[in-house]
Amino acid sequence: MKHLNTSRSLGMRTLAVHGGQQPDALTGAIATPITAASAFSYPDFDSGARRFSGEEPGYIYSRFANPTVAVFEQKLAALEGAETAVACASGMAAISATLFALLVPGDEIIHIGTLYGGTEGVVRNLLPRYGIKPVHVTNVNELEAAFTKNTKVVLVETPANPGLDIADLAEIARLAKAAGAVSVADNTFATPYLTRPLELGIDIVLHSATKYIGGHGDATGGVVAGPAALITPIRTLGLKQFGGNLSPFEASLLIRGLKTLPLRVEASSLSAQAVAEFLDGHSAVDTVFYPGLKQHPGHATASKQMKLFGGIMAIELKGGLNAARTFLDKLSIITQAVSLGDTDSLACHPASTTHSAVAPEIRRQSGITDGLVRISIGIEDTEDLIADLQQALEGL
Ligand SMILES: Cc1ncc(COP(=O)(O)O)c(C=O)c1O
Repeated sequence: MKHLNTSRSLGMRTLAVHGGQQPDALTGAIATPITAASAFSYPDFDSGARRFSGEEPGYIYSRFANPTVAVFEQKLAALEGAETAVACASGMAAISATLFALLVPGDEIIHIGTLYGGTEGVVRNLLPRYGIKPVHVTNVNELEAAFTKNTKVVLVETPANPGLDIADLAEIARLAKAAGAVSVADNTFATPYLTRPLELGIDIVLHSATKYIGGHGDATGGVVAGPAALITPIRTLGLKQFGGNLSPFEASLLIRGLKTLPLRVEASSLSAQAVAEFLDGHSAVDTVFYPGLKQHPGHATASKQMKLFGGIMAIELKGGLNAARTFLDKLSIITQAVSLGDTDSLACHPASTTHSAVAPEIRRQSGITDGLVRISIGIEDTEDLIADLQQALEGL
């Protein structure tokens, strides 16, 4: 079964079910057992020393590595077509571990377009405290001119949170490689089912596994995948030193979530396309930001690098803040909450929630207005979601 980890000839649904896992050697259990051990015994004194030095394989301590967590890592690596992966306690733990492992004082990081508010905080506020300079470019066209000899990392999120901006991953990978920088893509919105950044030349792909990967709103996690030469230092810093390891209980939920990832992402993407088309024609809606709509500025690039256009969209309501409040309070099937990528459809107001800590002028530059609402389409029946949206928009 090991070959499943690297084979690209198997379909995504097969990889999602079987990748990185096989029945338990001891019991035959098909579902991966939860190994709730904090420490693992080694056979003798010398073996303990060899495991710590890395000469001998074997588990030591669950902050470093854990068998249940390892299955999640291998399954995700199989889906992303990565050599290896490291799981973290949350998406932010994954992002922080990656950036702090790759960057040292004096380095520069270029971040493209909009990022999740928490990531913006790390890049713009935390990294400078450690002598690392963030350089912002609004899109890929500005990237080449922004490189200096100190640029070590290029960070992008596509589609981006919350405006669904699309960045050309192959072009970013090409430019970063030419400049000797490591390219990092946050693939949370697309998931490996829709986009595989590593196949487009990106060096490192990461996720908030809290979203589509878990998919049921019951687990918090993160994961970083790529070549072992880049992932090993991220594991050392993120888990051994920062201590941001994933719990085996969460890993078990994320393994189960990954098994249905292709089915869930396909269903929510198809539904989102229909919802976006409905909203696009509604008189209370000024703009629908969804890469599946032909007029979206990223439509051509998204068509190239995404299998479908995903389950998330943002809408700009004509009535601004008051309309956003009324609309969100009237929704009944769609739940007001800040997460995304769940079976349940969720909607939120980024300016007052997910991106409230982002400075107002950066929010304005990024199009995070008071009338912007983000909607994550779940797997409910499309017609029920459209009916819910229709009644919530009535009278706005
Ligand atoms: C694109 C993106 N990346 C990272 C994160 C952070 O993930 P977590 O909440 O699991 O720490 C989020 C959270 O919303 C996100 O939307």
